[in-house]
Amino acid sequence: MRLYLTGGTGLVGSNIIRLARRRGDIDIIASQYGPEPEWEVDYQLDPLDMSDVDAVRASMLRYRPDVVIHCAAMLDHVYMTANRSIAWRATVEGNLAFARGCAEVGARYIFVSSDWVFDGQEPLVTEESPPNPVNFYGFMKAVCERDIMAVPGLSYGIGRMAGIYGLNYAIPELLMKDNHLGFPITNYIIDRLSQGLIAEVWTGPKVNDMAHASLASDGAEMLLRLAEHDGKGIFHCWGSEAATRLQLAHHVADVFDFDHALIVPVPTDPNVLEHFRHVRIPFRTVANSEQTYRLLGRRTLNVVDGLRAFKQELEAFRTPTPNPSPIKRAGL
Ligand SMILES: NC(=O)c1ccc[n+]([C@@H]2O[C@H](COP(=O)([O-])OP(=O)(O)OC[C@H]3O[C@@H](n4cnc5c(N)ncnc54)[C@H](OP(=O)(O)O)[C@@H]3O)[C@@H](O)[C@H]2O)c1
Repeated sequence: MRLYLTGGTGLVGSNIIRLARRRGDIDIIASQYGPEPEWEVDYQLDPLDMSDVDAVRASMLRYRPDVVIHCAAMLDHVYMTANRSIAWRATVEGNLAFARGCAEVGARYIFVSSDWVFDGQEPLVTEESPPNPVNFYGFMKAVCERDIMAVPGLSYGIGRMAGIYGLNYAIPELLMKDNHLGFPITNYIIDRLSQGLIAEVWTGPKVNDMAHASLASDGAEMLLRLAEHDGKGIFHCWGSEAATRLQLAHHVADVFDFDHALIVPVPTDPNVLEHFRHVRIPFRTVANSEQTYRLLGRRTLNVVDGLRAFKQELEAFRTPTPNPSPIKRAGL
């Protein structure tokens, strides 16, 4: 399979590359947006800004992939909300260019979307639930999903993810995310607790209090399955169990054997509330994703199993090897 991947330097994309390289039967072309990697890679790099729709089409025509997985995204919500035209060009127009380019060359198109297409108020969502985004990012993702569905003749899968944590294999170290109003706080909690430092868990106002946290490698496995599947539609590729931020923090302490007393629920930092004043945050998203598991023949990990798998990944990554290249250290 000839795979064209965007966002290969990101959390999810780097895990897809890792998985695809291990498979051995996948020919990878990865778009490259930022600086060139500091180490040699054994797959093709294609310098590309997804905002440049002509360049996107040209890449599709040049490489003629069997499948495209579009992981790249802007994720700075404050920046996107303040710079909507720039974000729209990159997200919505970029997506449409990929979708149309895929239809033109007969490639299957996998778009990575988000649980933030939902408002976080419904008791339970499924793949069929209507989106109701509450912020600009979620709105753009929902528009992208509808745009894809309207491209004639396109084979597509929309893989939604949520609260992603894990190792970014494209950078030399674990990507330590900061504390956040959104749900990707697992890396932050592990980082703090592993150093014996207090991990403040904001309990509100204005937090994404509950979601299906997703281990990046687990989501990558689902997205690769989706790439090789022929079903059209929306697939929930996030972790199989929802938890609140506080429950998640205590699961981390259990699995990693950290001190629970270091987990401190506190009101949301007023400076952060001020910074995010124009961005609304979905509150609690809980999903039934049985349809996805049935169609893709695989269930994603629950919270504890995801954390256990992550612990193993971290231990493997940190085991000293004579070769300092992150790709080699990741066991690739
Ligand atoms: N993180 C989450 O919790 C979460 C939750 C739900 C859904 N998602 C979705 O999951 C996908 C992957 O997220 P992630 O956490 O892996 O993201 P990430 O780690 O922030 O990586 C984003 C990637 O996008 C690339 N990129 C940014 N702007 C670009 C542009 N103009 N042209 C081409 N590439 C560009 C970045 O390249 P550089 O490294 O060179 O900047 C990077 O490779 C995204 O679609 C995101 O919306 C994420």
